[in-house]
Amino acid sequence: MSTQENISENTPHILVLGMGGTIAGVVKSPEINPMQYQAGQIEVASLLAQIESAAPAGIKLVSQQLANIDSRNLTETLITALGQAVREALANTMVQGVVITHGTDTMEEAGIFLQITCGKYAQSLGKRVILTGAMLPANAPNADGPSNLLDAIRWASTPLDNCPGGIYAVMDGRACMAMDLSKRHTSALNALNQASPSSSVGLINPSWLSGVKAVQDLWTEDWPIPKEGEWPWVEILTSHAGARPETITHWLNSKVKGLVLAGTGMGSFHDAWRDSLVAAVKHGIALVRTSRTGAGETKPDLPEKDIAGCLASGGLSGPRARIALQLALNAEKHTQVADKSLTWQDFFARIAVLPVIR
Ligand code: SIN
Repeated sequence: MSTQENISENTPHILVLGMGGTIAGVVKSPEINPMQYQAGQIEVASLLAQIESAAPAGIKLVSQQLANIDSRNLTETLITALGQAVREALANTMVQGVVITHGTDTMEEAGIFLQITCGKYAQSLGKRVILTGAMLPANAPNADGPSNLLDAIRWASTPLDNCPGGIYAVMDGRACMAMDLSKRHTSALNALNQASPSSSVGLINPSWLSGVKAVQDLWTEDWPIPKEGEWPWVEILTSHAGARPETITHWLNSKVKGLVLAGTGMGSFHDAWRDSLVAAVKHGIALVRTSRTGAGETKPDLPEKDIAGCLASGGLSGPRARIALQLALNAEKHTQVADKSLTWQDFFARIAVLPVIR
């Protein structure tokens, strides 16, 4: 629906897709405890109505409510719906850019998913898709949602010479590639920027921009969006002091298709896991290694030689590596119909080699 009056039919649209989150959250007693609230209460059209007078001229704001949830409850069905809605919007010649209001708790997953399934498409069309959210509910004093939403809308409608089309996120005045996004604080307003290479939205930093272009040059092809019910089952397991082989053997006779190992340090795991991980590979379970530290890269054969068949995940955190592995397994299944030569490892390696923006 449109939230603005007196705009011609040919005015370019910014489509705002509502997924819910704290940006659409309501607190009962804002003055007493703004953190005791319910996410996903206000419709995206109402969020737009609050900021439309400050929105840039020459665009028409259009909204679509896809969900209104607390994003801790994000489902694969909803992720599929989000990907389809984004692709549909990108294909619409009236749509200049897309903004997604989303809960911050799993924005990390939505960000990597959209990069892998829609990143090349958005870039080739010269359109920006921008995730945003808030750390404070809509009726809290100094709520950050309105300024984040306005920043995202302004940036989605800014001429391209300052930054190419693609999948981005905007929070607390900073922009990053959505695939770099990670929430690294429980409550700070800049919780999503603390470990994500980013630039000020107002003044794009040239070294960040050249990093974005380096990633986009290597990302040559989007992968299929899994259909509802097609998402492979992948779990994240954390290595820690006192780890037991049973944490791995538990899965050997299950329907799990992949395990992401959130390892210690550079992505190492407890020796107690080694034999059961070798057995998991023999059972056809896909394995990738990442680090539980929250920042930095996981490289092949560090600190020790990898188990055959287990891939390092580059700059991907556990939640991002999990989505990437699910999409790689799904892509393998799809190419096996047409071309038997590509494996999930071939696909996953394309993500793991993407340069990390500094
Ligand atoms: C959510 O992720 O939906 C709740 C938390 C937030 O948006 O910050």
